[in-house]
Amino acid sequence: MSKIVVTGRIPEVAVERLRAEHEVDAWSAAEAISREELLTRVAGADALLTLLTERVDAELLDAAGPQLKVVANVAVGYDNVDVPACTARGIIATNTPGVLTEATADVAFALILMATRRTGEGERVIRSGQPWKWGMFYLLGSGLQGKTLGVVGMGGIGQATARRARAFGMDVIYQSRSGLGPEVAAGLGARRVGLDELLATADVVSLHCPYSPATHHLIGAEQFAAMRDSAYLVNTARGPIVDEAALADALRDGQIAGAGLDVYEREPLVHAGLLELDNVALLPHLGSATIETRTAMATLAADNALAVLAGEQPPTPIEK
Ligand code: DGY
Repeated sequence: MSKIVVTGRIPEVAVERLRAEHEVDAWSAAEAISREELLTRVAGADALLTLLTERVDAELLDAAGPQLKVVANVAVGYDNVDVPACTARGIIATNTPGVLTEATADVAFALILMATRRTGEGERVIRSGQPWKWGMFYLLGSGLQGKTLGVVGMGGIGQATARRARAFGMDVIYQSRSGLGPEVAAGLGARRVGLDELLATADVVSLHCPYSPATHHLIGAEQFAAMRDSAYLVNTARGPIVDEAALADALRDGQIAGAGLDVYEREPLVHAGLLELDNVALLPHLGSATIETRTAMATLAADNALAVLAGEQPPTPIEK
């Protein structure tokens, strides 16, 4: 029997799956585990199930000890995991791709609609008790039909967002390290372009690339200047891909028309300049937040850990 430490609350079905085979120490409090507590608890663990709120670095791996075999991150993004530090210690790192694709694309599209149709602003009017009445020019937004969606990072979530855009009558262009196969590209009606062309052309720019040093502040002052003043930016990937201070300036100065964010540079903090603006829709990192998706994510992470502990290949190792 191995020892598995689960560092945050996850759906019980996944914990039960682990408990059926191993000794499990699962953090069950609603608040996140403190770093100090985490470093103490992981001692002697053979497997860790980690959430994106925990930093998995050399210090944590060493606190666990040399018997640690697997870090199963319950997220598709793994910028919280120092993968080279895992590899150097012979620890397998895994993530949860695929199972949160549709849920995250739903939220990307919700943000596209919130930003372009000003639904957050409208709701704030009602809730604040301000007087309002229907008017020909009241809270006019921007339609999507015939407009162009620019997808930055055309992995599963980018493609799922593109499919939604097609259903709304949008054209799709994309920028990605690797191009789509001809059949997939044709199915999505998507044309691959460089980032400069995408920024200059798209009516809505939606970010779906992973966060890494290479994508840190990929979208900043220079990129906002290159976008159309009628364009919108949506980010459901990772906060630090966007320079939030530059975004607040661009939104305030009318360099772009609006934005929708689900992720932030310093979560849970949100840049104060954004909070003052009406032309940005703000959600608290809800991309994968459905019961079905969170259950699938936790179950996949559990399967990854169990496979490694059984000496087998995990279903979804992090691809380097
Ligand atoms: C992920 O899996 O990376 C998401 O951000 C979690 O919501």
